[in-house]
Amino acid sequence: MQNLKDQNLIRVSKGPFFAKVLENREISDNIYKLRIESEEIAQNSLPGQFVSIKCADLTLRRPFSVAGVRENSFDLLYKVKGTGTEWLTNLKTGDITDIIGPMGNGFSIENKKSLLIGCGVGIAPIDFFMDVLSAKSLPYKSIGCFRSKYKNAKEYDYHITEDGTSALKGKLSDYLEQIITETATEKIFICGPNPAMQYVTEYALSLNIETEVALEGDFACGTGVCMGCAIKIKKGNALESAKICKDGPVFKGEEVVWR
Ligand SMILES: Cc1cc2nc3c(=O)[nH]c(=O)nc-3n(C[C@H](O)[C@H](O)[C@H](O)COP(=O)(O)OP(=O)(O)OC[C@H]3O[C@@H](n4cnc5c(N)ncnc54)[C@H](O)[C@@H]3O)c2cc1C
Ligand code: FES
Repeated sequence: MQNLKDQNLIRVSKGPFFAKVLENREISDNIYKLRIESEEIAQNSLPGQFVSIKCADLTLRRPFSVAGVRENSFDLLYKVKGTGTEWLTNLKTGDITDIIGPMGNGFSIENKKSLLIGCGVGIAPIDFFMDVLSAKSLPYKSIGCFRSKYKNAKEYDYHITEDGTSALKGKLSDYLEQIITETATEKIFICGPNPAMQYVTEYALSLNIETEVALEGDFACGTGVCMGCAIKIKKGNALESAKICKDGPVFKGEEVVWR
């Protein structure tokens, strides 16, 4: 049985926390791992939740999925994209960051034969989810999909690369049917680009397999105030509005209206 924290039934402080950088290094092409000291965030994060970091003097905080936790620290994996992430690359051990979190909801933790899929830097919440399911001895298999071999990767059961630098060459769609069959998948959890999540959701739906997707929209406030991250969700025959930052980022795949 899950505890109250797992069910998000107790409130914990979201900060801001002024937290020390323990490590910041490039682990794969243009992808960095940032380890930050914060017992509060480490102890209260669920896989799928995110933190928002103040980057330099930029007004809008930047959101990143929690990629793993230890007792007193947590990890992020970030891909360098623009001003904020470029600034993050300059953080040194001992620098102080301004962070709020953990925010949003997390993946469901269930005793089902789960297939966890991370594409590109979408592997971040999946890495964390793998740790949590392993610690609870719950059954899962994992897929990591990348353009090129993801160095410093965890051991994924299936490591797919477009350029063939890992054992499986090609795209997720080349292997999904075979993997679902051989792992007798009962539920799929995925984080990655929207087209990949849409494809997996629709394919899984055709097999009556449930999915949960961790969406990465463009955020402004990141706290549910501005509607900047609003999407449409299917509830029966009706369409409802939902905010990725507040109601997500994890949604049932079959409820998402893909754009
Ligand atoms: C829930 C969630 C989890 C995520 N997890 C990860 C992760 O684990 N790893 C990862 O690499 N990425 C993750 N991302 C994506 C990450 O947040 C973006 O790549 C990051 O914010 C890029 O910041 P940037 O400043 O480098 O890029 P920029 O392109 O400069 O800015 C990124 C965003 O900031 C906002 N913004 C910037 N300037 C303006 C402006 N002038 N006016 C209005 N809005 C503006 C916009 O929303 C824009 O899309 C996640 C996103 C979400 C929503
Ligand atoms: S980013 Fe403002 S409501 Fe989600």
